[in-house]
Formats: sequence, structure tokens, C-alpha cells
Amino acid sequence: MTPMTTRYPLSALIRSGNFIDGQWVSAASGTRFAVTDPATGKTIAEVADSDANDARAATDAAARAFPAWRDTLPAERAAVLRRWHALIVANAGELGQLISLEQGKPLHEGRGEAMYGASYVAWFADEATRIYGDLIPQQQRGKRMSAVKEPVGVVAAITPWNFPLAMIARKIAPALAAGCTVVGKPAEDTPLTALALAMLAHEAGVPPGVLNLICASRERGVTAVADWLADSRVRKITFTGSTPVGKHLARESAGTLKKLSLELGGNAPFIVFDDADLDAAVDGLMAAKFRNGGQTCVCPNRVYVQSGVFERFADKLATRVAALKVAPATDPAAQIGPMINARAVEKIARHVDDAVSRGARVLTGGKRLAELGPNWYAPTVLADATPDMQLSCEETFGPVVPLFRFDDEAEAIRAANDTPYGLAAYFYSQDVRRIDRVARQLEAGIVGINEGALASEAAPFGGVKESGYGREGSKYGLDDYLSIKYLCQGGLA
Ligand code: SIN
Repeated sequence: MTPMTTRYPLSALIRSGNFIDGQWVSAASGTRFAVTDPATGKTIAEVADSDANDARAATDAAARAFPAWRDTLPAERAAVLRRWHALIVANAGELGQLISLEQGKPLHEGRGEAMYGASYVAWFADEATRIYGDLIPQQQRGKRMSAVKEPVGVVAAITPWNFPLAMIARKIAPALAAGCTVVGKPAEDTPLTALALAMLAHEAGVPPGVLNLICASRERGVTAVADWLADSRVRKITFTGSTPVGKHLARESAGTLKKLSLELGGNAPFIVFDDADLDAAVDGLMAAKFRNGGQTCVCPNRVYVQSGVFERFADKLATRVAALKVAPATDPAAQIGPMINARAVEKIARHVDDAVSRGARVLTGGKRLAELGPNWYAPTVLADATPDMQLSCEETFGPVVPLFRFDDEAEAIRAANDTPYGLAAYFYSQDVRRIDRVARQLEAGIVGINEGALASEAAPFGGVKESGYGREGSKYGLDDYLSIKYLCQGGLA
């Protein structure tokens, strides 16, 4: 038997087939599509291009595997997840390289993401053994009422490209811990990391059919997902991605009334009050904004700075941003990599051009880095942003910080909440009363108070308003994969 902490070279982690029923298989149609390195445009590998037939085969396998996996002991599921965790950790260096290769983030961030994803697997290994029910206080003689939690069944997990490992790990781990089986589809830009995870899950002892992954290009992927939406055997969809797609999934899954968890777009405000520690606020903003080059749902999209400290804060920030090292992940000093594709750069450039045409001042950046290739944009700080600018209402998803000026607390809160989104919000202040007031009033699922780095497997991640519903991570993260069954036993003495 292979020792449980086998380390693989990068080449051995690169798979090209779908993973269905414990086997690596081609797409039923035999077609493939290329996965490219966003830094260079070079093809890394070609993977199966799946459609509804492959989605159906994956669901068949997951539905067959469900009863036996549901009936395993929680401690048995926990043991499998712990082995999977050990394998991810042992291969974190190579997985980090793979993440950087297909997604573009700097190497230290790639490895960091592998460890971050692994932390969810360890967390849910433990949580598997803590799924409690209730014995309901007796209401009538001779009758016992209890509530038990059961896995919902087959779960479809649809994940984004910005965190190719962490986002799928934090869906698969709670699903398997709860006793569900999974059919998954990673984003078309970054399927390779998910396939490598499936390979390690198999080695960890996840039985055939319990975890199934299919890859698909955008066009065919739509037909695969449509099959899951219509299939009544798929009892839950968990999705991280854009709000329009989330709304589509909610509408289209209504026919079979699936349970849904949706982690959707954000438009996070970051407020700097005049009583803030400005250096700490700059540090926090750098950490929150430039993680993954600004391609993060929780990264600040609108930065509100109180008038009295506006110029000082803007100067400090612009100096730090101008010093960021923009380079491919292969450069160990890289701090900002390429954007995921040319479409992403188009959107960033459109937002910056629109802001400048409406009066924003470019303090640093504000341009494409065409000398590096079509997917590169310079880290940018814009002063004098106003609410009529596109970047005030839409998520830019890139390395652009617009600075808005405000005069008082009420105005800042009004502006921060003036969005249909409510994923993350941040603020910096040293006044304890203000901290309490502002934290209560911000409409967001996650609030950073004098802190820019919020991610943790122990904390509930998710939004309010049009940023979706459901929570990932924490003790609440299993709830989305469980349903409650009420048992009423009569005829007792
Ligand atoms: C995201 O916002 O895209 C996920 C990042 C995280 O887990 O912090």
C-alpha cells in the first residue's frame, strides 16, 4: 500500500480526464479543451470537455455511492478526511505551483492557498464527529420526540477560478463529512488543481463514486450544469461565483427545489475614520486588496477615507502600491501576478478609464502592462472617486483602489451600504463606541475591524443581500449539507 504522505512531482499531479466512479475517463464526446498559463498564454494541459452526458454519468455514480457512504461511521469519514488532509499538506509545494501555473497568483500565495484549503479538510474531519441531534423534552406520556441530522444526498459543487483549491476543498470537505456524495465542476480556467485534489482524495481512501469531478469549457459546462439542475437526485447545489449566475441557479433549480448555498459577488467597502491608526489601515488594505491581485470576492472595492486624513492616507498607500513587484509566479519576488484572462483586464481598464473620465486622479498605475502580455494590469490607486463611477457599483476584481472622501460617520455608513451586495466590509477606528456602532450597522456577512486578513476555516464565510446565502467553514458550515429529520415514537410506557 502507498504510504499516506506520498509526495508527487508536479507532473504526476497533472491529470486530464474526468474523475467518475473512482476512474479517470475521457468526456463521452471525446472532446478536450486547453488550460493555459495566464502569465504566458502557453497551454499547460488539455482536459476533458464534458457535457450533460458526463454530468449524468457523474450523478449516477454519486447516487449509487450515497447509501453506503451515508451509513459509514462519522469517525470513519473523519479518518478518510484526515488522510486527505495529510496528503494535501505533504504536496502543498507542488499543489501551490500548480495553482500558480493555472491561476497566476505568486508562488507564496499558491502554497498558502494549498494550506488554507487543507485547513478546511482538517476542520471538517473533526466536525464530522460532532453532528448532534436533540431529544425533545417530552410533551405527552408514551411518546418520544427527537430530531436527527441526515446528509442531504448528492451535492453538486460548482467552483470559481480565483481559488482553485480552497474553494472546492471547502465544499467537498463538509459534504463528505456530513455523509453526502459529490459531483463537482471546477471553473474552466483552472480545473487542474481540482483534478489533483481528486487524485489525492482517491489515494486517501475516498471510495469510488463518493467524489466525482468533471471539467468543461464555458459552452459545454452550461449543459452539464443544466443536467444537474433538472436531476431530482441532485439534492443540493453549492456555488461560488457571480451574482447573475447564482440567481440563474436559484431560478432553474426551483423545479426540483434543491437546497442551495450561494457565495456570490461582493463590493466590499473599506472605511478609514480619522481616529484610525493610519499605518495599520494601510497594512490592512494592502493585505485585503492585493491578495490574488485583487481577484477576491472579499477584497475591498471601495475605500472611504475621512477628509481630515485623506491626503496623508492616500500618499502612504500610493507609495506602498507603487512598490509592489508585478511579475510572473516563476519570479520568487512576485507580489502581483497576471489577471486571469484578457476579459478581466478589459473590465479593469473600462473601470479605470470611466473613473478618470469622471474626474478621478491617478496616484499610481492606471495602465495595462502590455510589455508583460495581454493579461497584465498595473496596481493602481485613484483619488477623488465618486458614486457615479462604474467602479463604485460593480466589482472591479483587479488591483485597483478607488479612494472616496467622506466627512462624517453617518455618510460613510450610508455610502458603504449603498449596494445590493453584502459579503465583506472593513473599517479602521480606535474609538470603541464607534467600533460597536459601525460594526452593527454595516450590511455584510463578514466585517473586518482593524483587520484586513479575515480568512479562517474556523469562521463562517458568506454574505447577505445579493451576495448570497449559506455559510462555509466554522461550526455552521455543515448545516448546508444536512437536513433535520423529526422522529416521533409512540407506544412507549
Ligand atoms: C473569495 O472571496 O473569493 C474567497 C476568499 C477567501 O476565502 O477568503
